[in-house]
Amino acid sequence: MNFKNKIVWITGASSGIGEALVYELNELGAKLVISSRKSDLLYKVKQNCKKNPLDIHVLPLDLEQKGTLFSKADDAWKIYGEIDILINAGGISQRSQVVETQPEVEERIMNTNFWGSVYLSKALLPKMILKSKGHLVAISSLVGKFGTQYRSTYSASKHALHGYFDSLRCEVYDKGIEVTIICPGFIHTNVTVNSVMADGEKYGLMDKNQSSGMSAQECAMKILEAIDQKKEEVLIGGKEKFGVYIKRFFPKYFSKMIRKRKVV
Ligand SMILES: NC(=O)c1ccc[n+]([C@@H]2O[C@H](COP(=O)([O-])OP(=O)(O)OC[C@H]3O[C@@H](n4cnc5c(N)ncnc54)[C@H](OP(=O)(O)O)[C@@H]3O)[C@@H](O)[C@H]2O)c1
Repeated sequence: MNFKNKIVWITGASSGIGEALVYELNELGAKLVISSRKSDLLYKVKQNCKKNPLDIHVLPLDLEQKGTLFSKADDAWKIYGEIDILINAGGISQRSQVVETQPEVEERIMNTNFWGSVYLSKALLPKMILKSKGHLVAISSLVGKFGTQYRSTYSASKHALHGYFDSLRCEVYDKGIEVTIICPGFIHTNVTVNSVMADGEKYGLMDKNQSSGMSAQECAMKILEAIDQKKEEVLIGGKEKFGVYIKRFFPKYFSKMIRKRKVV
């Protein structure tokens, strides 16, 4: 994989998949901008990197604060004078049913997962088009391909990424811009611990599926392969990936199967 001297901006870099991407890309000689809300954690991630620390710049941001994201993108661009790849890995999941979830919580999930990725990508797009090169990566989910109980707004935010970034890909295919959508299944990170409940409180528990899921490091390697090979969309995970094909070819059977699943 050729990431040497590639300039990569990663959101969600303080934890889980984003953090694992930082370590892999650092090993591969990339120049990085790393973002999330918690700057103390971002500096720890930077410290953990074994290769040149001068090639890692911390840029804290809050994806919920839409009004700040265009200027954050300008700041990120100015660090190296360009950005080759933006990986939108920052996000939050959900553990609550539609009937009980406060609308403000739903807005928070949409703002973080959908609008956060969209604003940062839109801010970089004109600059990438001017240079006739750039790669935008959206981290969706298998629930970006189907819905399941207790994940309504999370699933909606991920479905929205597909509509938006698939459309964008059509518009920029002849402008040197690549668009990749990644759909992870169960990956061993704190995503369930950090999920929000109906009232916006943190769920605080690790789901069994995540604790027995693929490691964040393996997931990061597969994401980098997909980016390197300019893939349009990839599913990453174990047998849960078959859900996408069952839904496509046997939708009624899929509905029966998914509603029997025990999820919180
Ligand atoms: N793990 C899985 O099984 C799985 C499956 C499918 C999809 N995904 C997706 O993969 C991506 C990464 O998740 P993960 O598994 O690595 O979970 P994670 O360990 O909880 O990491 C989430 C990251 O997002 C950042 N973040 C959350 N809210 C933010 C905000 N308002 N502004 C800026 N950054 C924010 C967090 O950093 P701060 O707290 O420092 O802001 C953290 O770095 C997410 O988009 C998630 O939906 C994960």
